Amino acid sequence: MARGSWATRTGFILAAAGSAVGLGNIWGFPTRVGQGGGAAFVAIYLGCILLICLPIMVGEFAIGRRTQLSPVRSFALLRPGTRWWVVGAVGVLAGGGILSFYCVIAGWTVAYAWFALTGRLAGEQLAAGAFFADFTSNGAASVGLALLVLVATAGVLLGGVRGGIERVTKAMMPVLVALLVLLAARAATLPGAAEGLAYYLRPDPSSLLDASVYNAALGQAFFSLSLGMGTMLTYGSYLSRQTGIAGAALWIVLLDTAIALLAGFIIFPAGFSLSGFDPGSSGPGLIFAVLPRLFATLPGGGLFGTAFFVLLALAALTSAISLMEVPVAHFIDAHGWSRTRAVITVTLGVFALAIPSALGNGAVPLLTSVPGVGMDFLTLMATAWNDFALPVGGFLTAVFIGWAWRVDRALEELVREQAWFPAPRAWGFLVRWVCPAAIGAIIVWTFASFI
Ligand code: TRP
Repeated sequence: MARGSWATRTGFILAAAGSAVGLGNIWGFPTRVGQGGGAAFVAIYLGCILLICLPIMVGEFAIGRRTQLSPVRSFALLRPGTRWWVVGAVGVLAGGGILSFYCVIAGWTVAYAWFALTGRLAGEQLAAGAFFADFTSNGAASVGLALLVLVATAGVLLGGVRGGIERVTKAMMPVLVALLVLLAARAATLPGAAEGLAYYLRPDPSSLLDASVYNAALGQAFFSLSLGMGTMLTYGSYLSRQTGIAGAALWIVLLDTAIALLAGFIIFPAGFSLSGFDPGSSGPGLIFAVLPRLFATLPGGGLFGTAFFVLLALAALTSAISLMEVPVAHFIDAHGWSRTRAVITVTLGVFALAIPSALGNGAVPLLTSVPGVGMDFLTLMATAWNDFALPVGGFLTAVFIGWAWRVDRALEELVREQAWFPAPRAWGFLVRWVCPAAIGAIIVWTFASFI
């Protein structure tokens, strides 16, 4: 059966950027900036993006375009007779694992868009901050919403690469960027905005010596760029040889980073315009509890709130699509299943795994708790995959490209058809030495400071 392929370069860039831009940017990034001490976290994050994630993204695209296969078969084809395929297999599992909690949070954004539209986000209950806790303690609602998100995702994937993924994300991404810019402009004119900006942009040097801040920044960078588990590899496998990789990767990284930074310019001014706002302890409430309180006090707040949560839901959907595509592509390539059969099976499997995450969130403060202390299932999944599996997956991908497949062969693929590739030597050096060393050091340092 013919595999899918992207129709245009722009379509590919927007689909990959749609994968990257998601809850990680708009919800995760500001939350972690709040926990990690403001601008110091941002600086470390940008370092991780440039020196570690951009080179690995280029590498994932190169593997995928070279083999035109999903992760397990890609690794097996490039290094036959070895166990490298296991890295691909972990990626396939990670796609389902991450999606299983991602769809729960995405479900909340859908509900909030509905609440904002129907004026339910304006009551006294909301002012008291109990709304989010009450809402998420309703497990059945969370389960239903997660299923809704999964079914919508499956619906897009059934349309295939070109008619489903590319068509839908290409339409959504411009809307998303326009909405974000609008919201940032609105937030900048709020009273208290200056204080929020000062917090966001003021470095706190003590964070620079904290291993957990580096680990959080690295995990966040991988998560935000959809790296370390074969999503970008799979998207790269639908590329034609005529599409240059380096330029596309730069665009995707730029878009993703700009949107994360922009989200900070919305959340922090907005938060600081409310009394009693503490960025460090707000956690997930930063979006679901703090922002609705702000919307409730604004003229036209209902519309503002609806726009915001619709945006979040759209961003989440284009990311969920890419998460589900990894196991789907695997069953199509490695087991010869039809797309329909693969989509239905993966949807059911992920839904089963999503149920404990959806049910376990009665007590919202648990979401922000320190790892190991009273973690609920959703937090456990999020921490295990984001802060651990993705960096390890990225580490192994870099080692694979640098030392097993080898940089010269990867470069041959990257400069095919005279493609623009500005710094081949620097890229090789980053992939072979800097990525493994930096990721390894951060992981070891994090474990050491736990003990
Ligand atoms: N990058 C998305 C976000 O920021 C989430 C995501 C999509 C993802 N595909 C992924 C994360 C693959 C890790 C791996 O919300």
